[in-house]
Amino acid sequence: MPLTPMRQILDEAAKAGYGVGAYNVNNMEQIQAIMAAAKETQSPVIIQASHGALKYSNMVYLKHLMQAAVEENPEIPVAMHLDHGPDIKTVKEAIALGFSSVMIDGSIDYAVKDASGAHPPRSFEDNARVTKEVVDYAHARGVTVEGELGTLGGIEDDTQATAVHLTDPDQCQEFVQKTGVDALAIAIGTSHGAYKFKEEPKLAMDLVTEIHKRVPNVRLVMHGSSSVPQELVDEVNKYGGKLEKTMGVPVKAIQEAVKRGISKINVDTDGRLVVTAAIRKVFQEKPKEFDPRKYLGPSRDALAKLIAERMKAFGTAGHAKDYRAMSLDDMKAFYAGKK
Ligand code: G3H
Ligand code: 13P
Ligand code: ZN
Repeated sequence: MPLTPMRQILDEAAKAGYGVGAYNVNNMEQIQAIMAAAKETQSPVIIQASHGALKYSNMVYLKHLMQAAVEENPEIPVAMHLDHGPDIKTVKEAIALGFSSVMIDGSIDYAVKDASGAHPPRSFEDNARVTKEVVDYAHARGVTVEGELGTLGGIEDDTQATAVHLTDPDQCQEFVQKTGVDALAIAIGTSHGAYKFKEEPKLAMDLVTEIHKRVPNVRLVMHGSSSVPQELVDEVNKYGGKLEKTMGVPVKAIQEAVKRGISKINVDTDGRLVVTAAIRKVFQEKPKEFDPRKYLGPSRDALAKLIAERMKAFGTAGHAKDYRAMSLDDMKAFYAGKK
């Protein structure tokens, strides 16, 4: 069974009223953990790789790992998605690898860095122009496209924006009409990384409702959706970590956002935390251990457990067999028919 178009996975989720997590990967253990969780909970799933992940994995390794994931789990719809594609060149590389979905992050200009190392926001026109170029290229190949309007507050290396600009609902219709994107990442106050908030966050939930009303046929995406659970931060610190006090996006807030129209939920940091905690635990409790399987194995199990919990919380669980996966050729014909 080939990869499933992300558009189909998200359309089915929107129809049935649940959210689908998009989990970031860089290596084999992360992919195995996500697939184990998807199998256990019978969930469709989006596996995503950033530009950094493509570089880290030397691309071709990732390509074969994702093929293995699909081959091993033929009953699970799996989309492979490029996260925060910085430019058309990276988009083309991901599509050549076989990804069934790409994000072009036209909200910030990855080619420019300011004095603090942050990328400046792009103008609406510029964003629409690069996004449309990607849509034309990807849709001709049946590949789904996610764009972004508004920028997230971010503290991670390659994905940081200089300022948070919440998405302006007035711009959404025009952006969608101009570009033809399938999915739209919107900024409602979340940010990437572990240090999101100092206290219980107030997210711009009304924006989700409003934007969903304005562009009902586009699937809305919430980035920066890790919950950064206190127990996980404590666990990392218990075994020698030095994470500072912080708060993420509570699972309840994500559930509320899904009710209001969010379909795709991006989670990376929680996975990083759970893997770090598990590895630190082995290192501290068994300092004589030096077989990587003895610490990567437990970290893989811990990640699978966390993701299974998220799949249940987002409502994805139990939906793996709801539909038959479309092929990229089916999608090509679908996009051609819309022109
Ligand atoms: O939103 C970004 C993801 O957390 C990926 O992070 O660029 O460090 O791979 P990365
Ligand atoms: P977190 O840092 O909250 O996990 O967000 C990840 C993300 O948005 C990836 O695109
Ligand atoms: Zn993101």
